[in-house]
Amino acid sequence: MSRLKQGVLLSGKSKSTGKRVTNDSPSLPSSRLAARCAETAHQAFLEYQARFNAITQRARELFLARDWVGSFKDAAERLHCYNDVLDDLTGRIKDLMGAQLKEHRAWAETKLAYSSLIARSSAWEIAETFFNSLTRRVFATDGVDQAIEFVDTEFDAPPLPTQVDLPRIYRGRSLPNLLLTALTDSFTENCWSDLRATVESAAARIEESSGKDIARLELEIVPSVFYRGRGAYFIGRVLSGDELPLPIVLCLQHENERGITLDAVLSGDVDLAILFSFTRSYFRVATECPYALVRYLRQLMPRKHLIDLYNAIGFHRHGKTEFYRDFIAHLRTSTDRFVHAEGVPGMVMFVFTLPSYDVVFKLIKDRFDFPKDITREKVMQSYRLVFEHDRAGRLVEAHEFEHLRIARDRFDPALVDELLRDASSIVKIDRDDVLIAHAYVERRIRPLNLFFKQCDPDAAAAAGRDYGQSIKDLAASNIFPGDLLTKNFGVTRHGRVVFYDYDELCFLTDCKFRDLPVATTPEEEMAAEPWFSVRQNDIFPEEFLQFLSLPDAARAALLEYHGELFRPDFWRAMQQRISNGEVPEIFPYRPERRLAEA
Ligand SMILES: Nc1ncnc2c1ncn2[C@@H]1O[C@H](COP(=O)(O)OP(=O)(O)OP(=O)(O)O)[C@@H](O)[C@H]1O
Ligand SMILES: [Mg+2]
Repeated sequence: MSRLKQGVLLSGKSKSTGKRVTNDSPSLPSSRLAARCAETAHQAFLEYQARFNAITQRARELFLARDWVGSFKDAAERLHCYNDVLDDLTGRIKDLMGAQLKEHRAWAETKLAYSSLIARSSAWEIAETFFNSLTRRVFATDGVDQAIEFVDTEFDAPPLPTQVDLPRIYRGRSLPNLLLTALTDSFTENCWSDLRATVESAAARIEESSGKDIARLELEIVPSVFYRGRGAYFIGRVLSGDELPLPIVLCLQHENERGITLDAVLSGDVDLAILFSFTRSYFRVATECPYALVRYLRQLMPRKHLIDLYNAIGFHRHGKTEFYRDFIAHLRTSTDRFVHAEGVPGMVMFVFTLPSYDVVFKLIKDRFDFPKDITREKVMQSYRLVFEHDRAGRLVEAHEFEHLRIARDRFDPALVDELLRDASSIVKIDRDDVLIAHAYVERRIRPLNLFFKQCDPDAAAAAGRDYGQSIKDLAASNIFPGDLLTKNFGVTRHGRVVFYDYDELCFLTDCKFRDLPVATTPEEEMAAEPWFSVRQNDIFPEEFLQFLSLPDAARAALLEYHGELFRPDFWRAMQQRISNGEVPEIFPYRPERRLAEA
C-alpha cells in the first residue's frame, strides 16, 4: 500500500501545492516505467471509485432530509468525477512517460502491469474501461487497439460479488410480512408513515398482477436502495414455486415530515423497463460489484442491453465499452448496410442507422441549412446540457463517440458520398474504412410524424395525449424543446413519446412566453408576417397549434388533456414555480401503479 502511495507522489501533482512534481528519473528502464505508470493509473482509478461512492452514499441522507435540490446537484456532480480524475491522471502520465509517451511498447507493458493490479478488484471491468479512456486521450486512436486497450476484457471469470450486491431472500411468512421486513431492513419502522397498512395493499397489488394467490413464496430484494430525483426504489422479484419469477419494484416517496411512504408497486418487465429507461437520469445505488448487479438486473429485464443497465447505475463510460463490444460483434454476424434514418432529414444533424441494430448515429453537419444560424459548438453544448440535466423520462440519451472506424462496404455507397459531402470535417476514408471523428449514438425510435401516418385513431389519440404530457414533463424539468414539430419526437417501444432534437433546446426560465398581441387595424390583421416586434427568446404558445400537423384523434386528445399548453399563463406559472425553487415531481411510472390511486 505504501509503495503505491509513493508511486503517486513521485509521479503526480503534489496534493498540497497542486504543482507538478517532476519525474525523478526520466530514463527509467521500460519495465519500471510501466510499473510506475500502472500504479499511478490504478491509484487514480481508486480515487475515482472513492469519489463516486461518496456521492452515491449521500443519496440516502438526502432522501431522508428531503433535500431534492441537493439530490439533483449530486447527480450532476457525480457525472464529472470520471473526467476530473482522468484529467489529472493524463497530466501525471505525460510527465512520467516523457519522450516515451507515444511508444506503443511502453503502453503495452503498462497495460500488462495494470491488468495484474486490477485482477482482484470486484469492479475490474470498470477499471479496464478507465484505462481505455486514458490511452484514448493519449492516442486519439482511430478504431481500437487490443495491445494498448482492453478492447475485449482480459479476464475469463467474472468478479466475485459481495454481500452488498447479492439479493437478499425473505421467506416463510405472508407477503405483507415479507414486504414489511424487507423495507424495514433499510429504513427502521419509525422512518415510515402508515407502513403496515400500505404493505397490505402492496401485497394485494402483487398478487393481482401475478394472477393468483401466492401461497408458497419467496421475496428477493437487492439490499442497496436505488435513489433518483425525489424517489427511492427497492428492486427484486417474487418467486413462487415453479412459476416464472415476477420482477417487482417498491417505489418510495418522502413528501412530508410524516415520513416515507410506499407510493407505488411496479411489476413485470415492462414496468421495470420504463423505470430504467434510456430517457432517465442515472440511479445512485451502492454497489461494490457492478458486474453482479447488472447481471441481476438483466434477469429482471432481459430485453435491456448491458449499456442501458450500466448507464442506469451510473457507469456510463463502461456502458459505452459494452455498447462498442456488442456493436462490433453484431457487425461480424450481420451483412446489412448503413442507410439514412427514416423521417425528415435534419438541417443540423446527419442521421444514419443499420437496419438490424436499434441505434442511430448522428453527426453534426459541416454547414446547417437555412434558417439555422447556430454553430457546431452550440449544438455540442445543447447535447451536453441534455447529458447533465435531469432527462425526466422524455429526452433520449445521446452517447458521444470519437474515432469510430467502420468498414466502408457496410455503407450504402450513396450514403458515403453524402457523408463526405455534408460532414467532411469529421468523416474520412482510410483505405477500406470510414473513419468518423465524432458522433452521437442514440436509441432508434419511431419518429412521431411517421407513427401518426400509420397508426389507427386510438393509437393516435394515446400518442397525442402523451406528446402533450411529454412537453409538460420537460417544462417541469425546466426544459423547453425549442422545436415542437412532431418530426422531432419519437415513440418508444412502450408507447412513450420522447424528444431527440436538441439544437434548439433551452432552459424554460430563459424563454419569454408572450400573449399574442391583438391586431388593431385591418392591415395588421391581414399581415402575413408578424407586425409586432419579436425577440429571439419570445415564444407565443397561442400559435403552437397552427404549426402542428396532427391526425384528428391526436389533436382532439391533445386539446382535451393538455389545452393549457396553448396558453401563455400556463408557461409563465411553470417558470414561476421553477424560479421559486420548486422541483415538480415527474413520476417514472403510470399513475395507476400508485397505491393511493387504488
Ligand atoms: N433517436 C432517433 N431515432 C430515430 N430516428 C431519429 C432519431 N434521431 C433522429 N432521427 C431522425 O433523423 C432526423 C433528424 O434528426 P434531428 O431532428 O435530431 O436533427 P436536426 O438536424 O436537429 O433536425 P432539425 O432540422 O429538425 O433541427 C429526424 O427527423 C428523425 O427522422
Ligand atoms: Mg429535427
